[in-house]
This record gives sequence, C-alpha cells and structure tokens, in this order.
Amino acid sequence: MGKGGRTRRERSGANSALGIRPGRRRIRPGPALPVPALLLSGCQGRQSVLDPAGRSAEAIADLWWVLLAGAAVVWLAVIGLAVYAVFARPNSHDLGKTRILIIGGGAVVPSVVLAALLVWSLHILPVVHPPVPEGGMKVRVSGERWWWRVTYLTEDGREIPLANEVRLPVGRATAFDLVSPDVIHSFWIPSLAGKVDMIPGRVNRMVLEPTREGVFRGACAEYCGTSHALMNFEAVSMAPADFAAWLERQAAPAEPPEGPVEARGLELFLGYGCGACHTIRGTDATGGLGPDLTHVGSRLSLGAGILPNDPEAFANWLAATHVIKPDVNMPHFGMLPEAEIEAIALYLDGLT
Ligand code: CUA
Repeated sequence: MGKGGRTRRERSGANSALGIRPGRRRIRPGPALPVPALLLSGCQGRQSVLDPAGRSAEAIADLWWVLLAGAAVVWLAVIGLAVYAVFARPNSHDLGKTRILIIGGGAVVPSVVLAALLVWSLHILPVVHPPVPEGGMKVRVSGERWWWRVTYLTEDGREIPLANEVRLPVGRATAFDLVSPDVIHSFWIPSLAGKVDMIPGRVNRMVLEPTREGVFRGACAEYCGTSHALMNFEAVSMAPADFAAWLERQAAPAEPPEGPVEARGLELFLGYGCGACHTIRGTDATGGLGPDLTHVGSRLSLGAGILPNDPEAFANWLAATHVIKPDVNMPHFGMLPEAEIEAIALYLDGLT
C-alpha cells in the first residue's frame, strides 16, 4: 500500500500505459471491442455523463434521458405516419383532417413541447450551475500547455500548489476559478458536471458537488494544440475527513530522500536544472513554469492523466517526453545515462 491508500496495481490499472520505454518506444493499441459493447460502455464508467456522481451531472443526465424519451416518441409517431402514408388508400382522407394534422403536428405540438422543455430547463438551471458559495475552500485551475495547474485556496488563507489531479469532499459544494494564461481550454469532469471553458483574460466560475465517492476522469474539452487529447486528469471524491487528511499531506513539504539512490536522484534533479521549472517544496527546486512535484508520487497518474504513476513511467517520461506528449514545453532527457534517469525516477516516485 502507500500512495494515498491505493496499491500500485490499482494505480496502474487506472491509466492507459503507453508502453514506451527509453530503449524501445512503441504504442500498444487496446483490444478491439464489438460495436454493441462500445455503445453500452458509454452508459457507465468513470468518464460517462450517464453515470453521474455529482449534483450537477445528475440534473444533466435526467435532462438527457427525458430528451431521449421525447425523441423516441416523436420518432415513433413520424415513422408511424410515414407507414400509414405508404399503405393508406389514395383519396381516403379529407382536407380538414390533413389541415389539423399539419397545423397540430407542425406548429402546436413542437411549440408546446419546446415551451415545456424551456420551463423545465430554466427550473433545473440552478442545479446545473449552482451559485458560488460564500467563503469556504476554493480551487483555482489553470489550463497550461498541456497540463493542469491546480491551487487549493484554503479557508485559513493558505495556497497549496498541486497539478493534474483534483480531489473533493463528498456532499460539499466546492467553488472553482477556471483560468488560462494563453489559449482556450475547457475543464470537464463528465461524471461530476458539465464543461466550462478556461478563457485567457477572464475567470470563469463553477461549483462541483460530488454525491458519492469515486475516482473519475477529467479531460480538456476544447482543442488547444498538438497534445490537446493528452491533457487529462483524475478527479477523486473522498469522505470529508479523508479529504482533509489528504489536503494537509499535500500542504506539507517533501520528505527527504529515503535511500542513497533516491538521494542521488535529488542531487541529479537539482544538478541538471530541473528545479528551474519545477518546485519540490523543502528542496532547492523552486521553479514555477512546470507542475509542482512536491507530492508527485502520490498522484494517480503522470503526464496529465496519460501514464501510470510508477518508476518505469517516470523514467519513460524523462527519456521520451517529446514522444509521449508532442510539442510539450519540457525538454526530454534521453541523453542521460540510464542509471541517472532511473535514480531521478525513483526519487520522484518516492515523493508521496
Ligand atoms: Cu487544453 Cu484542449
């Protein structure tokens, strides 16, 4: 155990391994699924709108099912009329009934249905987009190239910098400030709520309230450049007490390296200038360009939701950053001796 109470197998299983190694880099495709299985898989899982785990997502799912049922009724009625039209004898209908059908089906029914849907959607709007609560903890998320800068602003005024993972207490409404320094991204955790754009120059607000515990997947939902599709994250909803313990752990500085290899890893990390871009609180690494790595080993994935979190994935990321995430700002370190990469990887993996 370790890593936030999850075993290594659980953590690795939560992510898609690209199977890229410094020496032999290749991408392993997943097994092919039959089409019905693919269709049904959209109804459940950690990234499904139809398997809601948040107050807002529940209202959106309800709306979706009502629209689906309504569309099914309308489709059956239209197909029924089409079949009738094919098989009815010519001249067997009178003009009056035809007029009623055209005015009723073409104007009255759509107007009534659309007006009812409008009233209902206005009614559920406060649930889909709840008002931002006064006071309390707030989370600021910035869309970066291509990762998520996450800052927890606690009620007592502290700022806790994290990255590529969002954790929330179940049953509590948490306010989010969504920003971007350059291009438009969109912050979306389908299981918890609808998507909200992150637009340079403004702060968009949203509120997330998970209704059950779980690990869900978030993604960028607005094309933002080469590696847009590789900009994901985990959203974890936890019991409030577990969440409070997790946040305190994240607020603490990193613990010193465990053994000589990890200590060598830290030395190399600092020696090669990684600290110019990354912060590891409690060490001399204080850079602010890249993700904060103080507790990077505790996260459920690496590289913004695209790799499992284990020493091998750290080594692959360091050696082939540009292959795993094309056009990313971080340079790769594939020129380093394998032993040095492994030492850095072991040190980072130990930052739990
Ligand atoms: Cu960020 Cu797409």
